Amino acid sequence: MFTGLPDYPWKSLKPYSDKAAQHQDGAIDLSVGSPIDPTPDSVQQALKKFSNSPGYPSTAGTAEFRKAVVEWFARRRQVPGLDPDQVMPSIGSKELISWLPTFLGIGPGDVVVQPKVAYTAYAVGAALSGATLVSEDDPEKWPANTKLIWINSPGNPDGKVLDVLGFAKAVARARELGALLASDECYAELGWSAPWDTQVIPSVLDPRVCGDSHEGILCLYSLSKQSNMAGYRAAFAVGSKDLIRDLVNLRMHTGMIMPFPTQQAVIAALGDSAHVATEKAIYSKRRETLLAAVTAYGFEVTDSEAGLYLWATKGQDCWSTVDEMAQLGIVVVPGSFYGEHATKHVRFSLTATDSDISRAAFRLQNGLG
Ligand SMILES: Cc1ncc(COP(=O)(O)O)c(C=O)c1O
Repeated sequence: MFTGLPDYPWKSLKPYSDKAAQHQDGAIDLSVGSPIDPTPDSVQQALKKFSNSPGYPSTAGTAEFRKAVVEWFARRRQVPGLDPDQVMPSIGSKELISWLPTFLGIGPGDVVVQPKVAYTAYAVGAALSGATLVSEDDPEKWPANTKLIWINSPGNPDGKVLDVLGFAKAVARARELGALLASDECYAELGWSAPWDTQVIPSVLDPRVCGDSHEGILCLYSLSKQSNMAGYRAAFAVGSKDLIRDLVNLRMHTGMIMPFPTQQAVIAALGDSAHVATEKAIYSKRRETLLAAVTAYGFEVTDSEAGLYLWATKGQDCWSTVDEMAQLGIVVVPGSFYGEHATKHVRFSLTATDSDISRAAFRLQNGLG
């Protein structure tokens, strides 16, 4: 058994969720980023319609699946002209993130880079492969033996967005190092602060970022958040044809195949932008309510320009803040889960019902114990 991974960090929140549960009106869990609104009807209908699925699905994705992804990138992400052979489904993004270093043959002596404040799966992937993990945002400081670089825009947990110039610097440095640049972009349709409330959040595949070549680049996208499809495990990756061909080959051997009904559900989701706008409007209200309350309580909210979280600090150790929030019956995530550079922040998630967000806001605004 591989024992190189620590216990799942969320377990250490248990004493605080227990404490929150003692609140007279019960606990409000703002710790997990798991969507709670219904999966769009169009998506549910597609899943039902294609539920008769006796044969093995295509690991590479059906032609229709890959075409839907290509069209979505052109329509929603300012990435025209992708070749369907550049597209591959993944069973949610997390499995691909966690296994990518191993798939790439990265191992001891190699470096995997992640953001200074980072979603936890990048470190898991580095650990599984035996590579050294470096948390560094400045491309100039990425070490010479770097083989894989993760960037995440909009970021989880901090909601930071990379602009075209920021992306372009990352691409240039990755190419100089001969490393693969993997960009995790699943919150890209959820921009809040100017200019991202009106402008498209850039993708690493944007020609303004990477020119006319996708060599050495991989973009990951998931429908878990924007389409409330976390339960479907619906995501995809886009990169150079060579890389995708090799990844598909590995995934065929190992049976890492998106089920056919899910592929059909993804096609339905990508073809229906109305539900994305509706869901964004719902989150926008929740965000406004919670942002006002968190600020009134005395937090400084940093970054949080896009995505599903408020990244906030009271200038004290994150665990003290987690405890303070638990006394109000609110469960939040300590920044330390996201690395050593984030120990004074906590993360509030917007993935709670309108009623829970309002109740949390009320408790914060009144400082009720
Ligand atoms: C930055 C980031 N990448 C990837 C994922 C994983 O998404 P999926 O549900 O597709 O595995 C998440 C989920 O929280 C995330 O925040």
